[in-house]
Amino acid sequence: MNEIKLLDREFSVYLTEDEIQGRVTALAEKINEDLKGEDVLFFGILNGVFSTGKIKELIGWNEDITGKTVVVIEDIVDTGATLERVIGELKLRKAAEVKICTLLFKPEAYTKDIPIDYIGFEIPNNFVVGYGLDYDGYGRNLKAIYKLTK
Ligand code: IMP
Repeated sequence: MNEIKLLDREFSVYLTEDEIQGRVTALAEKINEDLKGEDVLFFGILNGVFSTGKIKELIGWNEDITGKTVVVIEDIVDTGATLERVIGELKLRKAAEVKICTLLFKPEAYTKDIPIDYIGFEIPNNFVVGYGLDYDGYGRNLKAIYKLTK
């Protein structure tokens, strides 16, 4: 399935499931190695976008993170607005160190100075769906990542 249609838009495969899995494994190994022996908490950011007014939900939000190394796991970093808010919150809650990991990063869209520690793929400033990312609620369950063509 190289081409798909979601609502009024067409998409084609950009990253295959194998490519994504390979990269995810490599990132996981690197994080494991870098943070060996530290008290680490992983923060998954789900659903919704601050920039369009919806609230992001954070897994483990009620945990005491004082003195811990927190690794923020993002699906995609676009402008970085969401990331900035999340990092602000984590610092207020006295995390010792905050690391950022994102599967996808759009350097052309990024407007912040916050360094991103672990990046799966740098991608052009195109809209993508699949592997958890949706277009208006559609496409989230696709196993590959697709980019908008029309
Ligand atoms: P930011 O705050 O501008 O960095 O936006 C990050 C959020 O926007 C992500 O967590 C996604 O929910 C959403 N987003 C940005 N670009 C895309 C895309 O290409 N496809 C699907 N969602 C996206």
